[in-house]
Amino acid sequence: MFDPSKYKPAQAINIVDRTWPDQIIEKAPTWCSVDLRDGNQALIEPMSVSQKIKMFELLVEVGFKEIEVGFPAASQPDFDFVRRLIDENKVPDDVTIQVLTQARPALIQRTYASLKGAKKAILHVYNSTSIVQREKVFKTDKVGIVKIAVDGATEVKRCAELAPETEWTFQYSPESFTGTEIDFAVEVCDAVTAVWNPTPDKPLIFNLPSTVERSTPNIYADQIEWFCRNINKRDSVIVSLHTHNDRGCAVAAAELAVMAGAQRVEGTLLGNGERTGNMDIVVMAMNLYSQGIIPELDLQNMDKIVSVVRECTQIDVHPRQPYSGDLVFTAFSGSHQDAIKKCLDMYEEGSTWEIAYLPIDPRDLGRTYQDVIRVNSQSGKGGVAYVLANKFGFELPRWLQIEFSRVIQGVTEVSGQEIHADEIWELFNQHYLKNEKVISLEDFSIEKSEGRETFNAKLEYYGNELAISGEGDGVLDAFVVGLKKAINIDFEIMEYGEHALGQGVDAEAVTYIQLKCEGRRYSGVAISKDIIASSLNAFMGAASQLLSEVRAAA
Ligand code: KIV
Ligand code: ZN
Repeated sequence: MFDPSKYKPAQAINIVDRTWPDQIIEKAPTWCSVDLRDGNQALIEPMSVSQKIKMFELLVEVGFKEIEVGFPAASQPDFDFVRRLIDENKVPDDVTIQVLTQARPALIQRTYASLKGAKKAILHVYNSTSIVQREKVFKTDKVGIVKIAVDGATEVKRCAELAPETEWTFQYSPESFTGTEIDFAVEVCDAVTAVWNPTPDKPLIFNLPSTVERSTPNIYADQIEWFCRNINKRDSVIVSLHTHNDRGCAVAAAELAVMAGAQRVEGTLLGNGERTGNMDIVVMAMNLYSQGIIPELDLQNMDKIVSVVRECTQIDVHPRQPYSGDLVFTAFSGSHQDAIKKCLDMYEEGSTWEIAYLPIDPRDLGRTYQDVIRVNSQSGKGGVAYVLANKFGFELPRWLQIEFSRVIQGVTEVSGQEIHADEIWELFNQHYLKNEKVISLEDFSIEKSEGRETFNAKLEYYGNELAISGEGDGVLDAFVVGLKKAINIDFEIMEYGEHALGQGVDAEAVTYIQLKCEGRRYSGVAISKDIIASSLNAFMGAASQLLSEVRAAA
């Protein structure tokens, strides 16, 4: 039995005049990837050195300018990896590496040792400040917590002075910030500020982790706004966010907190990290991009990002993970497919992206239109029509879309599976282009007099020769008259459509025809270089269906 009395609701922040709900994000924050630290720490099998190098190269390629590369004092492989990056000169000049350490002098010293020779680095020091950690883990009071932070900050400063060849930036995280009384979080951070003495030209970073996400994102945003308003030397501080996804709102929390004044965001590609993960930077960056903001990250080769992250973390990407999942540009529902097709048909290159059901252009992530629509038994006519038009050039008239989508629906209902473009094409061939014809044209002649056409032809009809002759307003009309007379069956042409297939000298004509006989309808499709041959053959395709049915019924 659930027992809700076991849990207490998150405490609201007393900030009645909050401003963040009215803010609009107008530029991307500074991104910092923690894939190689928080992400790596959370893996069942931590990354090997070659995987770390691969991940680091991807992060650089994607455009991160700040990358947390490890926790060198806590892990020898992390120490060795940091050394390798520095010794092998793998860090581009415009990228700053960051390393994490607890606020303990011995660990800080070892961390500095890992960074010897680095051109620039962010030294990230943390200690837990929350009520639970104070009371249950460290068994110390607020004074004790401030002392840990101040002693750590002092040691960070001292070690940096011993290594002036490196350009240092200091970062402090009051770990479990969201579980800390907000005025106490400010008190601890102010104590750190007093030690580091930042200036607007040489700011420090306060990173405010939602180490465990426990509240709705608006409360986090309130905490950030309150913090930004109340800390000392705000103009010398970069406020950074570090959200985890325990309630599934890590991205939303970071977004609202940027509205509340934060300038920097830490997270991972595709959201790997402790428990439910860190906030997914791909999602937040693409959310910004979809609002017309330059994301400052190059995510255009999403397939490569997914493949490297998967290889390095051994974790699959959910097919519905926003932006990166395999199915995010796939519409299974027929009405969605119809709407997408209509919007895509009207879309002009370079204009505003307003496509139903597709919040962004799949091509921006290196995905293609061909991947947008897949067809299954739920698809309806839109998906089938889209595939035939975009992959094979056949612009099916509406009546044929409806008819052929039933064929596809029948097949997919039996298989229970999605159907791929090539199978759709094969079925289209079987049904219309390459189906067995019981009637075919051997030879024909056309005479024109006083606006009327006379059509004389020799047909093969169930293996026998059949001569026909008819007169009408056009060739097809004359053919219909002649055939009706010869086989003594009454039918009429209900639908007719044609268009060019391809361009230039190789262009062919495709014709779609539907006949009606005693309330039933029969369709034919044919292609030919010659428009008359294409319409006569389409007619015979439809007539063949009708005649086979008549014979079967006889
Ligand atoms: O989630 C967290 O609190 C952290 C800190 C060490 C920044 O990862
Ligand atoms: Zn974290």
